[in-house]
Amino acid sequence: MSGATGTRVGEFAPVPAAAPAARTVRVALAGCGVVGGNLLRLIADQRTSMQREHAVRLEVVRVLVRDPAKARATPLLAERFTADPAELLASAPDVVVEAMGGAEPALSLARRTLARGGAFVTANKQLIAAHGAELAGLARRHGGRLDFEAAVGGGIPILRVLRDSLPPDGVTAVRGILNGTTNFLLCALEGGVTFADALAEARRLGFAEADPGRDLSGRDAADKLRILAWLAFGAEPARISVHTRGVLPDPARYSADAAALGGVTRLVAECALTTRGPVASVEPWVVAPGSELGAVSRERNLVSLTTRESGDLALAGPGAGGAPTASVLLADVLHGAGRLPVRSDAFAAAVDARELKWLLSVPRSPSLPRLLPAVLRRARVAPERLELDGADGVARLLLRPTTRARAEALASLLSSDEAPVCLSRVANL
Ligand SMILES: NC(=O)c1ccc[n+]([C@@H]2O[C@H](COP(=O)([O-])OP(=O)(O)OC[C@H]3O[C@@H](n4cnc5c(N)ncnc54)[C@H](OP(=O)(O)O)[C@@H]3O)[C@@H](O)[C@H]2O)c1
Repeated sequence: MSGATGTRVGEFAPVPAAAPAARTVRVALAGCGVVGGNLLRLIADQRTSMQREHAVRLEVVRVLVRDPAKARATPLLAERFTADPAELLASAPDVVVEAMGGAEPALSLARRTLARGGAFVTANKQLIAAHGAELAGLARRHGGRLDFEAAVGGGIPILRVLRDSLPPDGVTAVRGILNGTTNFLLCALEGGVTFADALAEARRLGFAEADPGRDLSGRDAADKLRILAWLAFGAEPARISVHTRGVLPDPARYSADAAALGGVTRLVAECALTTRGPVASVEPWVVAPGSELGAVSRERNLVSLTTRESGDLALAGPGAGGAPTASVLLADVLHGAGRLPVRSDAFAAAVDARELKWLLSVPRSPSLPRLLPAVLRRARVAPERLELDGADGVARLLLRPTTRARAEALASLLSSDEAPVCLSRVANL
């Protein structure tokens, strides 16, 4: 029991009448686009509350962009902008925030900041998926800080939960919808919108880049899964092999395939510990419309964790968008270092020996009925249901439970440039 004037565990300490003197933190920002621009706005909007609650005053001392002459809606003076990474680092920042994307100059900035014991906060999943272990090692050796909450799940603070709120070895599987662009497009297709119209709408709303290839191919989600698996299982991200199959070349057919079973398609990323080791994949799943995965709509993301002690945990929220992503970047700047993942060399991708259900579709051809029995025998799979004469000119096979390797063998035997195969994993419908 606490005394009458004490503070009980779980209660906030009373806010002092006079706020303490604020410490100035010098911020160098690399990138002032959708995310970086929103971060500048948030820093300006939240100036008073940051001083009151964190006793911190953020001063943006330099901003790195490609084109410093571009007109921008920011309160910062034009002379703070530069196109020279060396000038950014010469501004004596306490923290470098990277919201540019891509490999370079992001990697050099990170190395140079961390090698001199500085703090580096980034939203760049490609950078962390490829170089996270090296950068964490640099931070550890030189007393620097590396934070990258915004790199996975947009505005969902899942990395902090994995890093700080669960015991080591507490997680046995990570699963989720990690690409807001693909989810937005699949949901629009479900609603009867054409792919071209859905993509135009996604671009207009800022949910899709000019080229959505990284999203639709599953490569973006695979990078995010590598980062999640690093934090969940200690596996070095660049060494995690992710079996990646997106919804290309024909997202609309994936959507129609799922509808033929009464389900919807979701691009699902999963890293699960099996008896043979961890297995990581990004692939289309057919799921029931009202299920946890099926209910994730538009650009939203979902990450669910299977834990040893707490059962299933899930966090859902906006997986893209400048404001949510900037808000978790700002939280990383304010909250400082969390625990960095421990580097592990003991991670080797296991072959997935689980027997799963699959739906395969291929444009119908006159020779298909004749070829199919031999091809099925060769791939050693059996159909549970076979529909050769779909009204949309597509033949569909629902396979009996089989391994991914066999389902993929069948897909490659049936696939050609003129008749590409779509293969989805079928969840309990
Ligand atoms: N947008 C989202 O919803 C979202 C969500 C989660 C994570 N992220 C991640 O956040 C990062 C930024 O994304 P964004 O959507 O804000 O990108 P963006 O709108 O394209 O902005 C990129 C910014 O970086 C600058 N830049 C790019 N390459 C540069 C180079 N070589 N040298 C100097 N400056 C360079 C650009 O300068 P100019 O302005 O002069 O062109 C621009 O200001 C990426 O890693 C992305 O994956 C984005």
